[in-house]
Amino acid sequence: MTQVQECVEIINQHVKGFKPKIGLILGSGLGQFCDNINIKSTLNFTSLPGFPVAGVGGHAGKLLFGEVQGTSVVVMQGRAHYYEHGKADIMAVAIEVLNAIGCQSLVLTNAAGSTLEKASPGSVMLITDHINMTGVSPLFGADGNERFVNMVNAYDPKLSNDMRIAAKANNINLFEGVYAWFSGPQFETPAEIRAVKMLGADAVGMSTVPEVILARHQGIQLCALSVITNYAAGMSESDISHEQTIAFASKAADTVEKLLNSYLKNQ
Ligand code: HPA
Repeated sequence: MTQVQECVEIINQHVKGFKPKIGLILGSGLGQFCDNINIKSTLNFTSLPGFPVAGVGGHAGKLLFGEVQGTSVVVMQGRAHYYEHGKADIMAVAIEVLNAIGCQSLVLTNAAGSTLEKASPGSVMLITDHINMTGVSPLFGADGNERFVNMVNAYDPKLSNDMRIAAKANNINLFEGVYAWFSGPQFETPAEIRAVKMLGADAVGMSTVPEVILARHQGIQLCALSVITNYAAGMSESDISHEQTIAFASKAADTVEKLLNSYLKNQ
């Protein structure tokens, strides 16, 4: 049996007939959204073979099953990052499992730095496309023609539009832009930020892109949000730190909660 099959069996025994419609992955500092879920059951990543052991502050490492606004969801509270182990496919089993247990779509969230003056810390950005600055892929070593994944409209236009509608309904100023994935764990240099700004990046971060590639490889549709926790390196006087990331992500948590509640209600 593969790890994915093992996980599916464990989950099926645990949740007994509960079918999640939407999978959510919560980024750094966004765990507060879980208070909002009518939780039916919880599994630790440690009891799911192949799931990442989430190690970064602000990441809990739990899979929650429940309902939000009447929509059945499975929530990954915490994720693993490429920089933790140098494995770009660290989320592969988790994404395959979300697909195998029936998720029709995913919502991915992350904390990010903004390269746009207008998108200040505390604001939220809909990711419309990405730039992979790492040169690695979670599909290295995959076989079959499916590995040549089409990345046009990877961020699903219909789901992204649903997010815009949710923002409008709640008077949320939802920014939009291109997310550049850096490996981390060091933050970027000011020169790197100037470079990606010229390439068209509006936000920078250390996550999400591997999951987008893995999900598209699985044929899962998705949309994604960045919570802006800081101006990117060299853009402001204040130092960038992980502590600041967590603090500002928590500040934006109310906005994210409203946005996701409204989005999920209409899925
Ligand atoms: N860079 C990379 N990752 C981040 C940042 C940043 O400025 N802020 C939050 N995550």
